[in-house]
Amino acid sequence: MSQPRETRPRPEYAAPQRVSASIAASTDNHLEVDGATKSFGGTQVLKGVNLAVAKGGTTAIVGPSGSGKTTLLRLIAGFEAPDAGSISLNGQLVAGGGTWTPAHRRQVGYVAQDGALFPHLSVGQNVAFGLGRHGRAASARVAELLEMVSMDPAYAKRRPNQLSGGQQQRVALARALAREPELMLLDEPFSALDAGLRTATRRAVAKTLTAAGVTTILVTHDQAEALSFADQVAVMRDGRLAQIGNPFVVYTRPADQATAEFLGDAVILEAWMEGTLATCSLGGIPVRRPPAQGRVRLMLRPEQIRIAEDGPIRGVVVDTDYFGPETTVRIQLAPLTPDPRRPPDPHQPKGGEIISIRHWNAMLARPGNELSLRVVGEGVAFPFA
Ligand SMILES: Nc1ncnc2c1ncn2[C@@H]1O[C@H](COP(=O)(O)OP(=O)(O)OP(=O)(O)O)[C@@H](O)[C@H]1O
Ligand SMILES: [Mg+2]
Repeated sequence: MSQPRETRPRPEYAAPQRVSASIAASTDNHLEVDGATKSFGGTQVLKGVNLAVAKGGTTAIVGPSGSGKTTLLRLIAGFEAPDAGSISLNGQLVAGGGTWTPAHRRQVGYVAQDGALFPHLSVGQNVAFGLGRHGRAASARVAELLEMVSMDPAYAKRRPNQLSGGQQQRVALARALAREPELMLLDEPFSALDAGLRTATRRAVAKTLTAAGVTTILVTHDQAEALSFADQVAVMRDGRLAQIGNPFVVYTRPADQATAEFLGDAVILEAWMEGTLATCSLGGIPVRRPPAQGRVRLMLRPEQIRIAEDGPIRGVVVDTDYFGPETTVRIQLAPLTPDPRRPPDPHQPKGGEIISIRHWNAMLARPGNELSLRVVGEGVAFPFA
């Protein structure tokens, strides 16, 4: 980390060129969920979900707690039936349209949110259960699978109640991997692991699944995990998928403000849109496809706002929050000067917001310091609500 952040090249804010593999391969989908709805009691939990996952593709589903992520996975696995809509695997209808294929005939591996190990079996027996009738004696394979999830094979003799929560999750993963499913559904399988172990386990599991060509759906609350693990990210909100796209697109071009804020820190400013230029407290920011003219909300990612000596925008440090590799810096921006050529308009943005950005140098940003700022790349505009 010797280079200052503002001089580091950030090609990701150039125009996106990548096309999601799953979009490109839409004619070769492993999974297709079409208009799936599901209610429990009088409450509709899924309100018409459409999702396509390419063969061998990796999709991450993110969304607030209670938005319906686990319910969707249970529908795909075959533990629940949709009230309406359909689910197809490899082009074959497995639910909907009068068809029903039970869970054990879907070739789907499922790691439940709580792991759900068999409490009366040892770790080794739990994993071997996934190997099926022919493989139950294969202790070498059990050891290999345990190592894959960063567990010492010596744990094979223990019972689930002698394991930590994170260890139980990893045994559940090993058991699911043992079955060699065509489609793997992972419901927050790394949530109980600490940061280092989480990254290592995620890498090992992703490598195993990719090498075996297994189509994977991962539910996670960790935005960075979703963006790094998957070739397609689906954002669930209130029983619907608010946006589906490759990680770059959903992060840099979120469909709405809630999605933007869910996927990472966002700087939201009042702005005035004219053509493709949004005028706000950070100057004139280009917007590729403005949804409206006039008053809008402009979204920038904090890393697009750089502290730079020759930056054209001034701001004053309000306070800072040190968190190790970087410091969050809150900056008071100057109000916008009204355009003297126009009559006063109460709808014009006033500017003068306080924004939060991050900087590597905690010493540079002392409260009261004036900073020069520069914005890199385009903003995203949302209609003013
Ligand atoms: N079997 C059930 N009976 C009644 N309500 C249910 C049932 N299963 C889920 N729900 C409700 O459906 C909603 C969605 O639940 P779901 O488990 O799918 O959410 P989630 O997105 O996985 O949340 P989390 O991130 O907390 O795991 C919740 O309000 C939940 O209480
Ligand atoms: Mg859940």
